[in-house]
Amino acid sequence: MADAQTATQAPNVTRREDYREPDWRVPEIALDFDLDPAATRVRTTLWVERNGTHDRPLRLDGDGLTALNVKVDGAEATGWHMDGPNLVVPLAGSAHTIETEVEIAPERNTQLQGLYASSGMLCTQCEAEGFRRITFFPDRPDVLSRYKVKLTADKTRFPVLLANGDPIAQGDLEGGRHWAEWHDPFLKPSYLFALVAGDLVANRGSFTTMSGRDVQLGIWVRAPDLAKTDHALAALKLSMAWDEKVYGREYDLDVFNIVAVDDFNFGAMENKGLNVFNSRYILADPDTATDYDYDAIAAVVAHEYFHNWSGNRVTCRDWFQLSLKEGFTVFRDQSFSADQGSAAVKRIEDVRGLRASQFPEDSGPLAHPVRPDEYIEISNFYTATIYNKGAEVIRMMATILGPDKFRAATDLYFDRFDGTAATCEDFVQCMEQAGGMDLTQFRRWYSQAGTPRVSATLAQEGGRARLSLRQLVPPTPGQPVKEPMVLPLKLKLFGGFTGRPMCDEQLILLKEDAQELVFENLSETPVLSINRGFSAPIVIETNRTAKDLAFLSAHDDDPFARYEAMQQLMLDTLVTSVTNGSADHQPVIDAVRNTLTDSALDRAFVAEAVLLPSDSFIGDQMALVEPEAIFRAREALRQDLGTALEGEWRAAYEGSLANRFEYSPSAKGARRLKTVSLGYIAASGAADADELAFEQFSRADNMTDRQGGLTTLVNGASPLREEALEEFYKRYQGNGLVLDKWFQAQALSAREDTAEMVERLSAHRDFTLSNPNRARSLIGAFSVNQRAFHHVSGRGYRFVADQLIALDKLNPQTAAKLIPPLGRWKRFDAGRAAKMRSELERIVASPGLSKDMFEQASKSLD
Ligand code: ARG
Ligand code: ZN
Repeated sequence: MADAQTATQAPNVTRREDYREPDWRVPEIALDFDLDPAATRVRTTLWVERNGTHDRPLRLDGDGLTALNVKVDGAEATGWHMDGPNLVVPLAGSAHTIETEVEIAPERNTQLQGLYASSGMLCTQCEAEGFRRITFFPDRPDVLSRYKVKLTADKTRFPVLLANGDPIAQGDLEGGRHWAEWHDPFLKPSYLFALVAGDLVANRGSFTTMSGRDVQLGIWVRAPDLAKTDHALAALKLSMAWDEKVYGREYDLDVFNIVAVDDFNFGAMENKGLNVFNSRYILADPDTATDYDYDAIAAVVAHEYFHNWSGNRVTCRDWFQLSLKEGFTVFRDQSFSADQGSAAVKRIEDVRGLRASQFPEDSGPLAHPVRPDEYIEISNFYTATIYNKGAEVIRMMATILGPDKFRAATDLYFDRFDGTAATCEDFVQCMEQAGGMDLTQFRRWYSQAGTPRVSATLAQEGGRARLSLRQLVPPTPGQPVKEPMVLPLKLKLFGGFTGRPMCDEQLILLKEDAQELVFENLSETPVLSINRGFSAPIVIETNRTAKDLAFLSAHDDDPFARYEAMQQLMLDTLVTSVTNGSADHQPVIDAVRNTLTDSALDRAFVAEAVLLPSDSFIGDQMALVEPEAIFRAREALRQDLGTALEGEWRAAYEGSLANRFEYSPSAKGARRLKTVSLGYIAASGAADADELAFEQFSRADNMTDRQGGLTTLVNGASPLREEALEEFYKRYQGNGLVLDKWFQAQALSAREDTAEMVERLSAHRDFTLSNPNRARSLIGAFSVNQRAFHHVSGRGYRFVADQLIALDKLNPQTAAKLIPPLGRWKRFDAGRAAKMRSELERIVASPGLSKDMFEQASKSLD
């Protein structure tokens, strides 16, 4: 394997400070593919130009390629040599034509990077460094070229031939073969190259842009999936209109195609004019996709579409700038989704996601800044920090500038850097210039890792109150000492007696280690609402009492702050319970009752607000995570909530029984609240709970309700559990995306024997490591099930390590992504920590380890 790495070899580290302009530019490239799953010929012509005055040769990156033939200016070349995997060609002049020819075998490509086969089709994934697995090229994002692509293939097996840009010509050949030619008029880096060949059909649509141009849209899938593409197509049209309206960005080619593939390492890819998607983010119908799936499809379609400007028209100078396109594009897709339904519920979901994935990353051994300083394998840096914290950084700048100046700043950015490869610094400078402000200190968000912690203490002295704020940025690997950050905090005071706001919402910028604010002329005791809307991605500690939090959960006029107050009340209660063995549940019960019976609230919000924090999030609050104690404390509170409010849960359940499926914000909210209520009814131990869950499961006319019934049963011990699992399996056998849900529901089960069950499932005939979705649905889900993964025997650790060692042989990228849960050993007792470490050591020592895994596992041991 080309990137095989043994622990004794020192891996190459790439450093941001070493950036140099490319030695050679490649203004044009022509690619000629003779496609065949077993042996594909790639003939490439590069028009290269020396960049500046130097005498360095042309170095072309390669990964596992053998040059069959190299020509310079039309003549067979002899002076070239290989330097490891790369091709080096000495050149005398300042401009030359280089031709190379290689042969690759897509059907043997299990890494799913470069050109590979999936369910009978051929497709590509090039970001970040997959293009070098297809042809020799300076495979870095600051080399921008105009692409001409010719594809030739068997017409029966591959009737559809797609590439970037616009279709130019096509024709038939002898021997049942045919060809197609595509030209992309826009300059692009190699990571945005794509081709697809397959037996596909399209759901076609069109979109007229703001300047009146018609764009032909196509969502390409295999014929049986065609009926599941309407939602994605509708989301694409909404995204195109939204980007025009909100950012003034118009689409620029005559066609926009999306292809769904079953084997894909992550969500989707924004290749110019030819997005390639994991099929789970395209295919949906009510019978197979949940509301969550529908929302995720719209969000990912929007995300990839928005990259056409934030990523493609303006790309990244080097991979350290990855958040320039990803953070900004996540912020854009979050804003888009917020505009489609409830902005408050969307913000709650995004913050929950940030806390579940980014906060743990930022406090563990793999913590890194939004703009990292070094990497061994760039694939390991497609992280929650780059994406989600990166989005929060953009959001804070938008908050500080305000909407008009922020829009002026993004206009300036797109205008100034169109057609170029830019940096995070370029982006911030546009914010400064259009915003008319100095963001010098704010830039620390790009350079310092770690989640800032703020303590906010409100003290009343008669008619005035003093708010003392302190910030602390914890040390992270390689960054022992931190400077204070700029933290935009939205805050407001409420009268604790009347419930009335005592001031307008204020935006304050906490810039010092400590700052004080004084509020005068207060007529009653104030209650503090702070970091409203989660204006800064931080952890906040306040001296608010259970009474204050309950009050805010009922009266705050920012829905996010209401949710947050409830979460804090629940967390305080649960942490007390874990630490002391018990806690007073009454304040939580009262607050939940209040929210549940407040008819002014929408059901989607209520469903989010009454959910208890997850086991892992409770664990994240504690110096030492005790998985069993946390599980028991949470179950006890769930049971008390279930019992004390049984009547309310039943009323909410019945009030949410819709009879016909509809995909609308209110119908989604009703389904959500229904299953949350069902969970509490089951937690109460009510005698009819299992039948209720089974009934919901079997009568459902949509996957959301069916999955809700199933997961409720899967957490329990009823005989109906097996029946439901079996029925679900039979009904959806052959539908990979739904079988993923079947595996996942069992891997996430709260049952005591989950570790054992998951081991058994890994031998199931439908389990395979070669499909990333399937691998993640069992291994990935299991390793975030805190109670099951951290089973005191260590069997969870051993199982996951075994699977990852096996997966690494096939697909290093996907394997390395699943390392982080093992790296959290510092937070556990000595017994568990030792077992986790020894599995990491076993991984590092395993023969032929990829550099992807080497980097993740070895850093996790530090
Ligand atoms: N750029 C893609 C996106 O829209 C993801 C590419 C991920 N690449 C990787 N090597 N992990 O987010
Ligand atoms: Zn992206």
